[in-house]
Amino acid sequence: MRTVIVFESMFGATEKVARAIADGLSPSAGAEVVNVDDAPADLTGVELLVVGAPTHVHGMSQAATRKSAADQVDYEMHSRTGVREWLDSLDSVPDGLSVATFDTRIDKPRVFTGAASLGAAKRLRRLGCREVAPAESFFVGTDPIDVGPEPGELARAEAWGAALGAAVRRTMV
Ligand SMILES: Cc1cc2nc3c(=O)[nH]c(=O)nc-3n(C[C@H](O)[C@H](O)[C@H](O)COP(=O)(O)O)c2cc1C
Repeated sequence: MRTVIVFESMFGATEKVARAIADGLSPSAGAEVVNVDDAPADLTGVELLVVGAPTHVHGMSQAATRKSAADQVDYEMHSRTGVREWLDSLDSVPDGLSVATFDTRIDKPRVFTGAASLGAAKRLRRLGCREVAPAESFFVGTDPIDVGPEPGELARAEAWGAALGAAVRRTMV
């Protein structure tokens, strides 16, 4: 099963979550983890697409919020562009492509934080994709210098990846 995980990440937390999800999906899925900066325009042959992004101002990042992230630290951002822009650039995807979305965000009720995964899922549905699992959030700490997944979140991401793989395999038999 060809699986592509496209992630956007400023400080590195969403990238870590993406790699943990890939660990959960492998070896059966052999997931490719791709930075959104290098994400393909053509998804022909992909059977499962997983898309993840950090939550910025209650949703997916925009140029201004990415600049605001970059201004907070003195190292280079992991991604230069965003999932919003990549999804908007896709003209079409394979018919009924299986997808799942995730985000990283602060560990507070979603009504206060928003969740980037919901916007990504909406765009993918509009393209005709089929969600194999509800959008999921993984929690990060609030220290701007050392943003990272909270304890236990990478294990939860790995388990989520394993569950996704199982859900897709069930639909294939
Ligand atoms: C400009 C900006 C806006 C943010 N807005 C939100 C928000 O509305 N809700 C939230 O839960 N977290 C918010 N955050 C925290 C991010 O979700 C957090 O930095 C991100 O999950 C870290 O992932 P990354 O290291 O992959 O960038 C914001 C962060 C930045 C830099």
